[in-house]
Amino acid sequence: MAEGIPLARPVLGEAEERAVLEVLRSGQLSLGPRLAEFERGFAARVGAPLACAVSSGTAGLHLALRAVGVGEGDEVVTSPFSFVASANAALYERARPVFADIDPVTLNLDPAAAAAAVTERTRALLPVHIFGYPADLPAFERLARARDLAIVEDACEALGAVHADGVPVGARGHPAVFGFYANKQLTTGEGGMVTLADPALERRIDSERNQGRAPDMGWLDHDRLGFNYRLSDIACALGIAQLARLDEMLADRARVAGLYRAGLTGIEGLELPCPDEGGNTRGWFVFVVQLPDGVDRDETIRALARADIQSKPYLPAIHLMPFYRELMGYREGQFPVCEDVAARSLALPFFPAMRGGEVERVIEGLRSALARLTSAASV
Ligand SMILES: Cc1ncc(COP(=O)(O)O)c(C=O)c1O
Repeated sequence: MAEGIPLARPVLGEAEERAVLEVLRSGQLSLGPRLAEFERGFAARVGAPLACAVSSGTAGLHLALRAVGVGEGDEVVTSPFSFVASANAALYERARPVFADIDPVTLNLDPAAAAAAVTERTRALLPVHIFGYPADLPAFERLARARDLAIVEDACEALGAVHADGVPVGARGHPAVFGFYANKQLTTGEGGMVTLADPALERRIDSERNQGRAPDMGWLDHDRLGFNYRLSDIACALGIAQLARLDEMLADRARVAGLYRAGLTGIEGLELPCPDEGGNTRGWFVFVVQLPDGVDRDETIRALARADIQSKPYLPAIHLMPFYRELMGYREGQFPVCEDVAARSLALPFFPAMRGGEVERVIEGLRSALARLTSAASV
């Protein structure tokens, strides 16, 4: 019997083991030398002037929104087609996430729809580089300048992505937030990083992640409200080891994506992730397809599971989640592109060490499920 194929699997080797062991043996498990080393290395890799490590992407989004001044009653225009944390981060500050529809090709927040959603109360734009494809930041920067808005980028899925103008995602200057959960391009188990250019914002994020302390303060001195959003030295050591192999891991993800694209192109009605266009480069994170109209997604997932292949719907529309409907009165039909994509999208197994034979098995499993279910849908 062939082995099961999981959705994701991190690349962890001896370098990571050694790095973590060294921290354990040093006895300094938090706020040690690995923190600054990881931040410097990450900033340099992304091409950003500054970086603050935090305990998760979610924590980074929260602190970044606070840092740019988002507070109670403000509106933050963002994408309904994202992981729920990007919208939740606004709610943490009693601000209102205001959704606008997405582009049907890139699946990123549509700049024209975002512009139409801006009101007097809008304080910030929060574009998400979904599935690692660069959002149209030049357009959002024009909108932000015209309406005097801040920008926070959710780059949690987009390490390694590059904009059409050659600027890597995370290096445009406004706070950009990366996530290091175990399925990400680089993992520290849990963790995140805010890259940015403004030293004043960096100082604020540094302090607020560390219980509101300034760098020169004692352990029990606090001059502002803060959180414990620190990233441990153990996690930072893991991150440093992962950074050293990042280029290789990204290349492997791109290789797997190429195999999927070659094997899945031409299946009637099946939509694949958009290819890089106009100079934009995706930082491959997941391989998400949209099933042909009318195909039963749950049945597709069950058919793949019978072949020991994991898959999952990815992502649900945030505005249709029960608590968003209840809290903010969102309803079906408001963001039709997002709703259509969310209803048909399916994440396939995708990780750097995936072998050609495994990709082939997924392709064959999906092909045969769709052959059966497409004819069922058309009767
Ligand atoms: C688009 C997006 N935003 C935010 C997050 C939150 O990151 P974390 O899980 O590290 O808190 C994720 C992670 O899954 C994500 O994919």
